Amino acid sequence: MADPLDPAPLAPWWRGGTIYQIYPRSFQDTDGDGVGDLAGVEARLDHVARLGADAVWLSPIFPSPMADFGYDVADYCDVDPMFGDLAAFDRVLARAHDLGLRLLLDFVPNHSSDRHPWFLDSRSSRTSPRRDWYIWRDPAPDGGPPNNWISDFGGSAWEWDAATGQYYLHAFLAQQPDLNWRNPDLRAAMLDVLRFWLDRGVDGFRIDVLWHIVKADGLPDNPVNPDWRPGITERDRLIQRHSTDQPEAHAIAAEFRRLTGGYDGERLLVGEIFLPNDRLARWYGTPGAPGVHLPFNFQLIEQPWDAAVLARVIAEYDASVPAHGWPNWVMGSHDAPRIAARVGECQARVAAMLLLTLRGTPTLYQGDEIGIGEVPIPPSQVRDPQELRQPGIGIGRDRSRTPMPWTGDAANAGFSTGEPWLPLNPDWRTRSVSAQEGDPGSMLHLYRALLGLRRATPALMLGSYEPLDGPPGVLAYRRRLGDEAVSVFLNLTAGQVTVPWSGTVLLSTLDGAAEPGTLHPNEGIIVA
Ligand code: NOJ
Repeated sequence: MADPLDPAPLAPWWRGGTIYQIYPRSFQDTDGDGVGDLAGVEARLDHVARLGADAVWLSPIFPSPMADFGYDVADYCDVDPMFGDLAAFDRVLARAHDLGLRLLLDFVPNHSSDRHPWFLDSRSSRTSPRRDWYIWRDPAPDGGPPNNWISDFGGSAWEWDAATGQYYLHAFLAQQPDLNWRNPDLRAAMLDVLRFWLDRGVDGFRIDVLWHIVKADGLPDNPVNPDWRPGITERDRLIQRHSTDQPEAHAIAAEFRRLTGGYDGERLLVGEIFLPNDRLARWYGTPGAPGVHLPFNFQLIEQPWDAAVLARVIAEYDASVPAHGWPNWVMGSHDAPRIAARVGECQARVAAMLLLTLRGTPTLYQGDEIGIGEVPIPPSQVRDPQELRQPGIGIGRDRSRTPMPWTGDAANAGFSTGEPWLPLNPDWRTRSVSAQEGDPGSMLHLYRALLGLRRATPALMLGSYEPLDGPPGVLAYRRRLGDEAVSVFLNLTAGQVTVPWSGTVLLSTLDGAAEPGTLHPNEGIIVA
């Protein structure tokens, strides 16, 4: 943790830094096929640098049948032709580094594609050398699946293979067989994947569903969730006690950390993990055997937009982070609903201020910086396998994966000369990067100002978090580092409130002068 008495601590870049997630399919297309590509990422990286982010995380770019849009990897050490090739990747990396941005790749260790040569080999016979690289089991005595586990995308987590007379496990789609991390050869092969990209110069990884990586020995049935009711996702019929978050997984995270720690330049590991605070904190590992640097914290996405709830959640999370760890916050992703759709445009500005002033590394999701809101996806245009398998219960992810609108006066918002793979936000003619560029009151300018202020204010990057009292509907806290202290007052309501604040306003979410002692509707301020 940063020493609160040292105003200029030598913190690694990722503590004070901000991560920007790019979903490459939807960032910029350059070849007219309606799907984004690496040349497009290269061309648009200056947008991310200008915004003021420090690192880019690229969702998967590897060869894939795209059953789960790249989270079904058929070759961990290459680039899908849809996105380009290794040379195009090297150009993205070089451009990022020229702009002062770090680049993180998406490492998908829990499962591969069913077209991966490893799986083809594994499934070819019971005696194949790679049979045990995946999780195969005999049927239950009644011929059904070996246990009651449910796929995160609905239905049994087991797929029958008639040719070899066994089932294989898949926590997600049947096209995403789970890898067996108890097998030492598989483990060695996957560590080689990390080396391949680290040697190429990547600055780290976001690790997909890290807490799924090991299953309980013996694969016992998962307990039934008494709180499940129709209308919520089928996955939640069971509590994933035996299929996720196993103690053995921490040794694997520590192995990833040792491996990356052997490289220069503070390479970063971010783990995608959905767990309550106490179990999340364990993924930092121990001071002697650290795990990932940042186990993703999704609570701003999961919790209701309510000042009292958020104040409690923030304090509890902050307190749960061990002294050798560092907090982080996520407000959006290619899986989660858009923040502006959830809380409305006015509060999305307050949300931006919250995300960028909390103690911990923020992760921004592409498009949130221009406030993309709800994008209706007509049933005929749904592409997300999760929505296709469990339609109509509000878990579709396409609405957050729609293309970036770069300009309001070119076809398809400048995203592609061809028909985009998903529809654009309906207001793209007015809500685009170029439209907001010309409007100093826009969300884009607010994000830039917030990131600029954060970078210029060590207390915001690295300081302690102290909750302040506020009236109902207001979230208030102070960040302090050495002699520097800034306070943040966020009105999470659409009403005017009286708040005893005074001082110099460094930034407001609203145009016009802030009034001491008051917060206007939807106003957030940072005060020195
Ligand atoms: C989490 C990813 O973010 C999501 O998009 C994907 O479907 C699952 N992991 C499976 O890889």
